[in-house]
Amino acid sequence: TAGEVIIPVVVHVLYNTSDQNVATTQIEAQIRVLNEDFAKRNADAASIPPEFAGAAASTNIQFVLAKRDPNGAATTGIIRKQTKTRSWSTNDAVKNSRRGGDDAWPTSQYLNIWVCNLGNGLLGYAQFPGGAASTDGVVVLYSSLPGGSSKPYDKGRTATHEVGHWLNLRHIWGDASCGNDLVQDTPTQQTSNYGCPSFPRVTCSNGPTGDMFMNYMDYTDDACMYMFSAGQSTRMNALFGAGGQRASL
Ligand code: ARG
Ligand code: ZN
Ligand code: CA
Repeated sequence: TAGEVIIPVVVHVLYNTSDQNVATTQIEAQIRVLNEDFAKRNADAASIPPEFAGAAASTNIQFVLAKRDPNGAATTGIIRKQTKTRSWSTNDAVKNSRRGGDDAWPTSQYLNIWVCNLGNGLLGYAQFPGGAASTDGVVVLYSSLPGGSSKPYDKGRTATHEVGHWLNLRHIWGDASCGNDLVQDTPTQQTSNYGCPSFPRVTCSNGPTGDMFMNYMDYTDDACMYMFSAGQSTRMNALFGAGGQRASL
């Protein structure tokens, strides 16, 4: 479609146990989930309440495993590296070969995704646009990939959520009580939602339709988040326009 942005992806798999060395088919499934979610081609988009259906959007942003490495050589877009590190934190060591991780590929040309074992119940974390190139990208828990063992976070929506951050989206509650996520068409909501709320969930005087808890930028279960809004899509796509922070992609 017109205006489609296609982002080359490199996946760095850092594994200590063989479980953490996720199968190529699972990585391919993760890329498929990203592409469905960002194009509103996800099957569960049918569950969006009619009250929010008008706001649900395709972003026209798509992802493909890199076919060329930074030197122009053929690649699968997947790097596998065994490590002595049993679990990683948000200190970005996983992004640094000297700290036992694996260095980022040039972030002006690739989305870097590190897949590893995270500690402390962390599902993933991301860096917003404008940060250091050496740590740019997203990190996801190996078992959060589609078909992984992190139920109810086992449908690959952790990557969708983290790539949303990487493309400048804030949490839908604005990380404050009735906070601001800098997006007009996402209703102000009190805080994060977990599990699978029933519609409507009214907070912050946002009735009658209430929280957009089925948005990827909330904290609901993977099976219960299934949309980006048009305003979020506009905010993400602004990065690719002239002078945008990810225009080089
Ligand atoms: N940054 C969040 C965390 O690590 C990720 C939330 C993902 N939510 C989900 N349903 N997959 O806690
Ligand atoms: Zn988040
Ligand atoms: Ca909003």
